[in-house]
Amino acid sequence: MSFRPAQGAGTGSRTDPGGDRISPLTGGRVPGHIAIIMDGNGRWATERGLPRAAGHRAGAENIRRVTERFHEHDVRYVTLFAFSTENWNRPPSEVSVIFQLIDRFLRRELDNMQRDNVRVRHFGHLEQLPEPLAERINHAVEVTRRNDGLMLNICLSYGSRDEIVTAVRRIAEAGVPADEIDEATISANLLTGGLPDPDLVIRTAGDQRISNFLLWQNAYAELYFTSAYWPDFGREDIDLALAEYGRRKRKFGRLLPEDLARFEDA
Ligand code: FPP
Repeated sequence: MSFRPAQGAGTGSRTDPGGDRISPLTGGRVPGHIAIIMDGNGRWATERGLPRAAGHRAGAENIRRVTERFHEHDVRYVTLFAFSTENWNRPPSEVSVIFQLIDRFLRRELDNMQRDNVRVRHFGHLEQLPEPLAERINHAVEVTRRNDGLMLNICLSYGSRDEIVTAVRRIAEAGVPADEIDEATISANLLTGGLPDPDLVIRTAGDQRISNFLLWQNAYAELYFTSAYWPDFGREDIDLALAEYGRRKRKFGRLLPEDLARFEDA
């Protein structure tokens, strides 16, 4: 029995190590693309005797701090998991608070993002969102379209399995023959089509799972879990996460040159 990878397998479907950047702050290797599961807003608030809404507010305020620090390290893409398709099961009052905070963030930060050359994009079901919020997002995406500095992707009403199903349907509807579908075809038809895959996934607040976030794109991402709640995840935590990333050996299933040499010596 022989195994031949599907045509195009391994091309265009992941970020090669070249996706890394060199941080001007540390001179170390940093990820080109970081994806973040911002967890722990509720626990942050509860531990302070505050309503959960206060945790989301503190979480929303942290986004600016975090993106600024990534920008200083020359990270190019930051993708935030702001609201999942499963988060619709939360009480309507909590959903409403989260949407208000996102609306406020985009309203308040638009001028700063223009000044800082930040491009905003949205991944997820815009049509499921309240119309004013959908308009706010469209406006931010449109206004920042030509910015070519840091790209801030906001996943909102997003689920990865749903994204993959939609991509497969699009490919089928386009009538692509089965034997022409390869990894690059799937990648190109995802919402993230054209973007490099995340190099690093950060999840705050202690849980160690991916929660239906960029399942295809994260195939070779390094995973970093921290016990810090999202509102507390600050500049020092970022620096620690990036330093840890710099120590990781990314192999993409291959052997590293030093391992290859050892193999040949044997
Ligand atoms: C997870 O904490 C957090 C969320 C589901 C919402 C994240 C949303 C924001 C930070 C609002 C702002 C977003 C943008 C893009 C401006 P949790 O509520 O699950 O916390 P818990 O696990 O401690 O209960």
